[in-house]
Amino acid sequence: MTEQFADLEARLDETRDARLAEYIEFLRIPSISTLPEHAADCQRAAEFLADRLRGAGLEHVEVAATEGHPVVYADWLHAPGAPTVLVYGHYDVQPVDPLELWVKPPFDPRVEDGRIYARGASDDKGQVHLHVQAAAAWLGVRGRLPINLRYVFEGEEESGSEHLDRWLAENRGRLSADLAVISDTGFFDGNVPAITVGLRGMMYAQLDVLGPRLDLHSGGYGGTVRNPATVLAEIIAALHDAEGHVNVPGFYDDVRPLSQGDREELARLPFDEAAYMASIGVTALWGEAGYTTLERRGARPTLDVNGLWGGFQGEGAKTIIPAHAHAKISCRLVPDQDPDRVFHLVRERVLALAPRGVRVDLQLINTGRPSLTPIDHPATRAAAAALREVFGRDPVYVREGGSVPVAASFESILGLPVVLLGFTPPDDQAHAPNESMRLDNYEGGIRTIVRYWAALASTPLR
Ligand code: BES
Ligand code: MN
Ligand code: MN
Repeated sequence: MTEQFADLEARLDETRDARLAEYIEFLRIPSISTLPEHAADCQRAAEFLADRLRGAGLEHVEVAATEGHPVVYADWLHAPGAPTVLVYGHYDVQPVDPLELWVKPPFDPRVEDGRIYARGASDDKGQVHLHVQAAAAWLGVRGRLPINLRYVFEGEEESGSEHLDRWLAENRGRLSADLAVISDTGFFDGNVPAITVGLRGMMYAQLDVLGPRLDLHSGGYGGTVRNPATVLAEIIAALHDAEGHVNVPGFYDDVRPLSQGDREELARLPFDEAAYMASIGVTALWGEAGYTTLERRGARPTLDVNGLWGGFQGEGAKTIIPAHAHAKISCRLVPDQDPDRVFHLVRERVLALAPRGVRVDLQLINTGRPSLTPIDHPATRAAAAALREVFGRDPVYVREGGSVPVAASFESILGLPVVLLGFTPPDDQAHAPNESMRLDNYEGGIRTIVRYWAALASTPLR
């Protein structure tokens, strides 16, 4: 089997250093999509990527403008009779704070201990780059690809993919394909290859509690008015019950119950609870009663506070009743919850909890739908075989707690089945300081994709 790819493998071995240098160059661009001051950097990252796609031999390469950051499109469509695969990844990255916890600056990539450290190394620039490299190897060595490919790389994933659905709908005509492959998920634990079969959806909102016209002297006014910060705390505390359920009427109405089969599948995963706790530095786990940790993480909905602020934050003491207090709140959703409906339910609950004397509001920031992908699809089986060949063991099938809203859009807007094939383990620290990518996974990822395209050439998808 390996014989079949000897020439491609040889090319990959020869080009290792050059590829790493290009990857580092890509990582140097601070394409933080959520911060307006980085808009030009997002454009630059898009152009860099387009340039590399052209260099790899892909065609119709385009930096397509949207009302937000551009979508990078490219294709290669010269394999008549073979399937067409739409590949998705994102070139934008998360903000970098807290900056002081980075060993080296986040956009000054560092290679150490078999890893490359930088913001975006694993989420998702590394995974985007490995796709470009897999195509470059095929086209460079064989002058062709075994299947037809279309690439859609977006620049707004980390800020909610606000303009992508519209772009997909408007470009539906030229996005025809048989399958979408999304490389924005990861391995399971350490180095266990995984195929993700479920992603949670998202409802993200801001909670505002508004009190007096301005901050008040807490001696002169304390004991006479509602304190917005206290009200904020009371509302937040009331959003869970003592058993860890989300205490919002109707919240669970549309949740598809876990089947016995789902539960057995999750229970089979090699999960070490003590190691999990140690890896994140906690001494106990918490969550909804009646569900295992992996069920709670991947297959049950949640509500979390992502940030809260109000009143005096400086050093020392300042005696005030703050005029207002705020929180960012998000829910991770599972099939068949609807993010807009969940927003309305949470908003009603929050408003019902508001006491007299303050104004409370909940404003929607973004939403994303949950998705489930079939384990027994031939394209999933072919991905599993490619992973097994390269990483030497069968992948596990996981329901991931994170969200990639475009997965649901590919199904609903383009009617495509989706395979979630990614290469980054949880200890790559996506979104956190010192994010990294294991270089063996990056290299193995390229080799997996190289084989996967060959396997799909002889996999009937229609
Ligand atoms: N790559 C992640 C999603 C992910 C996280 C997959 C963990 C597998 C494991 C993606 O870039 C991401 O961070 N998504 C956001 C979505 C949000 C901004 C709508 C998330 O999950 O918070
Ligand atoms: Mn990502
Ligand atoms: Mn992310």
